[in-house]
Amino acid sequence: MMIGGLILVCLSLSLLFFLMVGWRPRGFPPGPTPLPLIGNLLQLDPKTPLKDLHKLAQRYGPVFSLYIGTTPAVVLTGQQALREALVSKAVEFTGRPNNIMMSHMTGGKGVILADVGPSWREHRRFALSTLRNFGLGKRSMEQRILEELTHVCALLEKSAGGSIDPQHLFHHAASNIICSIIFGSRFDYDDVYFQTLISMMEEINKLAIGPWAMLYDIAPVLRVLPLPFRKVFRNYQLLREHVQTVITQHKHTHTHTPAPRDLIDCYLQEIHKRAGDGSSFDDSHMESLLLDLFVAGTDTTSNTLRSACLYLMTHTHIQERCHQEIDSVLGSRECVSFDDRHSMPYVQAVLHESQRVADVVPLSVFHTTTAHTQLHGYSIPKGTMVIPNLSSALSEEGQWKSPREFNPHNFLNEHGEFFKPDAFLPFSAGSRVCLGESLARMELFLILVTLLRRFQLVWPEEEGVPDYELIFGATQSPKPYRMGVRIRNHTGI
Ligand code: HEM
Repeated sequence: MMIGGLILVCLSLSLLFFLMVGWRPRGFPPGPTPLPLIGNLLQLDPKTPLKDLHKLAQRYGPVFSLYIGTTPAVVLTGQQALREALVSKAVEFTGRPNNIMMSHMTGGKGVILADVGPSWREHRRFALSTLRNFGLGKRSMEQRILEELTHVCALLEKSAGGSIDPQHLFHHAASNIICSIIFGSRFDYDDVYFQTLISMMEEINKLAIGPWAMLYDIAPVLRVLPLPFRKVFRNYQLLREHVQTVITQHKHTHTHTPAPRDLIDCYLQEIHKRAGDGSSFDDSHMESLLLDLFVAGTDTTSNTLRSACLYLMTHTHIQERCHQEIDSVLGSRECVSFDDRHSMPYVQAVLHESQRVADVVPLSVFHTTTAHTQLHGYSIPKGTMVIPNLSSALSEEGQWKSPREFNPHNFLNEHGEFFKPDAFLPFSAGSRVCLGESLARMELFLILVTLLRRFQLVWPEEEGVPDYELIFGATQSPKPYRMGVRIRNHTGI
């Protein structure tokens, strides 16, 4: 009787466990045993989850599973698993998970968090062609970046002989470049309205992909309470109102000429062209797309630049070699062009190495499977959450000459020619590969070369020993530091 009762209790507990956690389907990738409700969250230290994921991959292999709360997820580790899923099986790995907080905020529109479907496809195609060659044109994109650089240089010249905190400078510059492309205008760096927009965006980035978002997803009852996610919704709404105002102004001044001023003009032309064909192009989708580009294009570029400057200041021989290459290619020319990259293999290598160590989007944006699929011999059902660990490829043993140190030779062959190893995946790969990759690469090159042409960047003595540890987040950043600035005369100091 007692034994029967005990068996019943055990069976009920097991049932409860499976109901609350779920169980690994047959053939599913292996992984650590989850706890009810919280899954494997205790196995991931919120400050250093990448180290924990690395240990789990060593134990379970490049394709393993874990539970985020009650949701099963498959983690992809190393370039081979990442490429196999995201490139070779792109169709099956292109979905986005339904993050309830984000879809309540964006209505599932835009590009970044939109699931696969006609609206995502149409908007991705439109944004890519507009950013690359249609309407705004490559040349014009370059001009916008160079124009912003005149403001950056003016500010740095004022600080020459002293030091600055580059965080706001790079953040404002990256944000202004996006503003110029999508809204057709920029802001002064000390404009209070601009600063408010940027801090609202930073807050959204911080809160929307963290514990608060998770709580919002798993405990709907908490949504009515005045918790921090309320602030995310308010900020998103305020940013949206800003975008709506700019769109309204554009509608009053827009002419259907072949020379659009910015991405809004291109979008208005697209609405006009597609009127009545049942496409998803409308004001509300336009607002979401503009917000996506504004948010995605700021932190990523600015954090990469901060990492690059940190390493250049503390590796003076590498900075010196960049100065030499830049001076010899530009000669008496004052301005750099994006085409100059082909003549600057060392600078290109330094830039890519900076991106590798900056490791800006370590876990990409999560994907889901759009159909039942196989990977590395495992069976993965439709709708499974997928975490592409891009960080694992950027420091993967066997893929790099020096995976653990800052070394431009990771991107140079024995003849000193620039090349990109297969494990270089900071923009991810496949159908969801970063939509702003070509813009980001142009920005990084033009900004870094212009700065190095005009200035010597110096690690201030009072900063002590440099700390290269990154602050973990959906986008990682180096710890705050100050940057010493000296003016160069282009032929030496
Ligand atoms: C997506 C990295 C700059 C716009 C992504 C993803 C990564 C990434 C890893 C996720 C890809 C995936 O889901 O597999 C970066 C890095 C950047 C950068 C490292 C700079 C160094 C930019 C810029 C823009 C931008 C400047 C804006 C013009 C986007 C958009 C998506 C995206 C819209 C979503 C694409 C989609 O879901 O179809 N980016 N990004 N990014 N990025 Fe970037």
